[in-house]
Amino acid sequence: MTNTLSRRNWLRTSALAAGSLVTGLSVLDKPAFGMKPFKGTYGLREDFFPPAVNEIKARLSANENPWGPSKKAVAAIAESAIKGNRYVYNSSREMEELLAKKEGVSPDHILLSAGSTDILEKIAIALCMKGGNVVSADPSYLSLVKTATAIGATWKNIPLTSDYAHDVDAMANAIDGETKIVYVCNPNNPTGTLTPVEKLKSFCKQVSSKVPVFIDEAYLELLDNPESQTTVGLVAEGYDVIVCRTFSKIHGMAGLRVGYMVANPERIKLIKKLVRTEMGLCVTSLQGAMASLGDVEFQKYTRENTKINREFTFKALQKAGVTPIPSFTNFILFPIEMKPKEFVEKMSEKGVSVRGFEIAGKNYGRVSIGTKDEMKLFVSTFNAVS
Ligand SMILES: Cc1ncc(COP(=O)(O)O)c(C=O)c1O
Repeated sequence: MTNTLSRRNWLRTSALAAGSLVTGLSVLDKPAFGMKPFKGTYGLREDFFPPAVNEIKARLSANENPWGPSKKAVAAIAESAIKGNRYVYNSSREMEELLAKKEGVSPDHILLSAGSTDILEKIAIALCMKGGNVVSADPSYLSLVKTATAIGATWKNIPLTSDYAHDVDAMANAIDGETKIVYVCNPNNPTGTLTPVEKLKSFCKQVSSKVPVFIDEAYLELLDNPESQTTVGLVAEGYDVIVCRTFSKIHGMAGLRVGYMVANPERIKLIKKLVRTEMGLCVTSLQGAMASLGDVEFQKYTRENTKINREFTFKALQKAGVTPIPSFTNFILFPIEMKPKEFVEKMSEKGVSVRGFEIAGKNYGRVSIGTKDEMKLFVSTFNAVS
């Protein structure tokens, strides 16, 4: 498989620079960022957003799709505006049926939402309102963890392995009687790396009888072969696995807010008992999303051009003397010499918005993949500020 091969390849060639402590293959089971797990330190402690500036020439900070939405989605949105006097019920039922067919489940396994953030937060509230803990990788995406910890749960953060995969054995060992949910982001944000699906599936089979496993597949559809890397089949097999998807990435609809989860009907009822998620949906966005699902050509275009521009940017960073972390997504994480706040500000001043992170005391930049012109501007600006 291309993904596995290329990961092996970079492991061999890049010697895991990226600011980490380790070199070579002899240290595969050590944490990638040299950080300590949940006794005291958090790997991803600081996340620096670009400041609001007047003129942004390239917005490369939020992993958006520069080509979206698809023309078919835009047409469906315009056509459906006239239906805006009615609540979404008909469109939402139609969408649930469409997604159920796509994911090989019945419609009662689908919960629609206004973007996947809505689901991440609501599942955290539903499961952690009486405390407990969440087990997840570090660094990883923090929406669910932030909501859970804000309402009183604790976070058991498990360092990624030195090849930036989820350390499923350490995660399984961290689960205790107080664990309410395990969160897995695959491919992972902010590293852009992929945990092999077979590892994840056996982990889910092992632990989901004790605790639900939430798999955030926001970037999955950007892979060459998404069907082979999804864990969604486990839901139909009856495992307590919650798979979450978004229309913000491959479909280029971040501002239109559509996401969904595929889960056991009991998990969906848990959220529906608490909140009326459907009331956050919008009829135009749903119609746009349905049209986008059918626009396979647009998805292919996004996938191919993301890959081309990612490879261009990766090589340009290498040429600049940086060792980026090989990515399977529409963003790249790379070590930087200066403080992340300073880096983000300097780039923004020149019209390029990026993100900066402090992870286990080390400094990183993250750039989203935009159009070729945007990536050329990123590279020249990066060279000018470095
Ligand atoms: C891993 C991951 N999950 C979820 C989201 C939230 O996406 P949205 O709420 O737009 O669906 C993001 C956004 O960047 C993400 O990176």
